[in-house]
Amino acid sequence: MLLSGRVALVTGAGQGIGKAIALKLASWGADIAVVDVNLDSAEQTAKEVKAMDRRAMAMKVDVVSVKETEDMAEKVFKDFEGLHILVNNAGITRDGLILRMKEEDWDAVLNVNLKGTFNCTKASLKYMSKVRWGRIINISSVVGELGNAGQVNYAASKAGVIGLTKSIAREFSGRNITCNAIAPGYIETAMTAALPEKVKEEIIAKIPLGRLGGPNDIAEAVLFLASNAGGYITGHVLDVSGGMAM
Ligand SMILES: NC(=O)c1ccc[n+]([C@@H]2O[C@H](COP(=O)([O-])OP(=O)(O)OC[C@H]3O[C@@H](n4cnc5c(N)ncnc54)[C@H](O)[C@@H]3O)[C@@H](O)[C@H]2O)c1
Repeated sequence: MLLSGRVALVTGAGQGIGKAIALKLASWGADIAVVDVNLDSAEQTAKEVKAMDRRAMAMKVDVVSVKETEDMAEKVFKDFEGLHILVNNAGITRDGLILRMKEEDWDAVLNVNLKGTFNCTKASLKYMSKVRWGRIINISSVVGELGNAGQVNYAASKAGVIGLTKSIAREFSGRNITCNAIAPGYIETAMTAALPEKVKEEIIAKIPLGRLGGPNDIAEAVLFLASNAGGYITGHVLDVSGGMAM
């Protein structure tokens, strides 16, 4: 088992990409802290992890809160005697053209996507540093690299995640802690479900591999970076987009 003996904390793991990541890491031996602002969905994911004979705890945490994220990392480290892998996946969108975008839409997206990543990373690094081993994987987006009309807040937050990732990689490489980002393209989840069919067809036409991605495509990439196979990679942004961002 690639990840046996490892403890992984996945944010936004109640549904979509985060849930697929939690189940993937569990299927390769990791115990999982399933973190989400929605406790019911986190509990459902934790139930599915336990059904694989792994340890799981469901935690209701708003990643925007410094206090909640500090308590979260402490509880995971104490109860599971470790915190080796952090996947910063929780994210939201509040789309709109800039001239119509409200201040609260900017703040909400920057807070969850960027400050949330900062909070969970800072809280977890304290424990990863103790054991001098860690893997941090931040879910960015191709939109953070390419930009997207109607998503200035989201694109800025995801570009910010890339800058944060590279800086953490430089700060913590001496302690055997790697930090990488994954930039998904269009993945079929609740976040993209509202796209009209015509828009989906236009997007697919720009994807060399000719299809939208699924949550499992991202989970496979996370597994690689979290395992020993990815041990000599840090500060990297891995596009998992069917080739649309090359
Ligand atoms: N779906 C895509 O096409 C796509 C593309 C690129 C990047 N991403 C990124 O992947 C990640 C997951 O996206 P998804 O499509 O699975 O979305 P989703 O909306 O299906 O799931 C997001 C999860 O995050 C949780 N969450 C939201 N705010 C939170 C908070 N403040 N604290 C804790 N949990 C919170 C939600 O409850 C939900 O369970 C996001 O960061 C998203 O930006 C998605």
